[in-house]
Amino acid sequence: MTEPWWKRASVYQVYPRSFRDLNADGTGDLRGVIHELPYIAALAVDAIWLSPFYTSPQNDSGYDVADPRSVDPVYGTLDDARELIDQAHFRGLRVLVDVVPNHTSSHRDWFQEALAAGPGSAAREKYHFLDGRGPDGDEPPNNWMSMFGGSAWTRVTEPDGRPGQWYLHLFDSTQPDLNYANPHVHLDALETLRFWLDMGADGFRVDVALGLAKDPAYPDVDDPEGLILALRMDLDDGSPQAMERRRRVSNSAFLDRDELQDIYREWRQLLDSYPGDRMAVAEAWVPPERAARYVAPDTLHQIFNFDFMAAPWDAERVRDVIQTTLEQLEIAGAPPTWALSNHDTPRVVTRLGGGDCGRRRARAMALIAHCLPGSIYVYQGEELGLADADLPDESRRDPVWFRTLGAQKGRDGARVPLPWHDHEPPYGFFDPGGEHEASLWLPPPPDWAAFSVAAQSLDAASTLGQYRAMHRLRHTHPGLFDLDNVSWPETEPGVFAVRRGCGFSCVVNFTDDEVVSPIQGYVITASDAGVRLERTVVTLPPDTGAWIQS
Ligand code: GLC
Repeated sequence: MTEPWWKRASVYQVYPRSFRDLNADGTGDLRGVIHELPYIAALAVDAIWLSPFYTSPQNDSGYDVADPRSVDPVYGTLDDARELIDQAHFRGLRVLVDVVPNHTSSHRDWFQEALAAGPGSAAREKYHFLDGRGPDGDEPPNNWMSMFGGSAWTRVTEPDGRPGQWYLHLFDSTQPDLNYANPHVHLDALETLRFWLDMGADGFRVDVALGLAKDPAYPDVDDPEGLILALRMDLDDGSPQAMERRRRVSNSAFLDRDELQDIYREWRQLLDSYPGDRMAVAEAWVPPERAARYVAPDTLHQIFNFDFMAAPWDAERVRDVIQTTLEQLEIAGAPPTWALSNHDTPRVVTRLGGGDCGRRRARAMALIAHCLPGSIYVYQGEELGLADADLPDESRRDPVWFRTLGAQKGRDGARVPLPWHDHEPPYGFFDPGGEHEASLWLPPPPDWAAFSVAAQSLDAASTLGQYRAMHRLRHTHPGLFDLDNVSWPETEPGVFAVRRGCGFSCVVNFTDDEVVSPIQGYVITASDAGVRLERTVVTLPPDTGAWIQS
């Protein structure tokens, strides 16, 4: 029997708003993705993951879904989605779509019905509506906080005009949480999965997979702010303190609860009933010892590895995170996943120091992430070496910015439209001169011409050239990247080295001095033009790395 495709897939995350805008309205669209499928296929990845493109008021860039089985007109039509899946398949690319089961948009018909139906109605049971505390019920039902800042409860005005019940939203107030104790909610999630599976989707990225179950007693939590901080990716520096903080999430009142897995067992049965190795990957920021629950043989298939994503520029810490990941998931028999960034985190160039130094480090870290067993997820623009854009405050859109009254800048800097070609904005994101032409939904920095696809396409030494080389090798020599064969040669402090199968190794220099690689051989690909090879001796300048064949 051949191995399921997802066990060692390279997956490219497309954030449709910012990928390519074919109708020139300033926002990316599905036809833009179809148009650039050859670009993605040429990266030699196995699959794409599409962030949400469903009908939505776009208060949280589409993660506030008003109708999960439709396409928002800003992105196109259901026919476009069907064509995108078919064309991707034609080019040998699988397609994962993002499902957002934890909450809906407040614009969803269900929520509007619940508001109109009033307290005690069946419609309200699909969400978490509770009476408030205090003499007039004017205090929230408990002390839970929103991940985006402030209370996780908002009070409604009842149909008779009086202040009434409160509803729960772990994110923005326009994203009410669904109640999975209600059978309609279960069935609706399954119907959404079926809808996209029937259209040909190969699987799902499960948004907020750790949040769907809540303690039915709705107890106060100790230190509510601390619990929320545990999920702030931008504050996670990979330190033992950050890990300790993360442990608070484990089986808590509204996160990572044990009974979640009953939901995913149902999902797994549905996925298994379809042909062709359909799969699901959980977005769940849980401590390593909880990860295996999400990927047991009868639950989901993969879980994102946020500890690796948060790992600082430190050889020993990076190696520790990798070893812990491999140990924990071995227990579950599930393949690990690796990613350096996504649409919620600072871009890896920025996280590792910004500027030329951050870019050199990001390229060296990419060599590590891509050589490990399991699946790699690449966020669009990472292959171009983009850094976060420094945006003027008036152009920010992220609800995090608004809910924290500007105390947190939010995630917009990592979501700016991609530069394709040309010397000035919109850098080929759309073709100027169209009938609907508008301005870009987020403005790109003035210096992005050098990072465009056109500027890097012919340059094998560019970041794009490195990403193409890495994915090509994963594709043509899958045996080098298999699950066994991970060993750790002795190194000097600050030097990372891992041996994989068939004489293939990755070495990265995390120090401030030039080092001679502890492993000799030929350089397959390097993260920097300064890496030297004399006979079989590889010399690595600071912040660089190489894949070596011995
Ligand atoms: C996930 C998404 C993020 C979104 C949040 C609420 O974490 O990745 O972008 O804001 O869920 O849906």
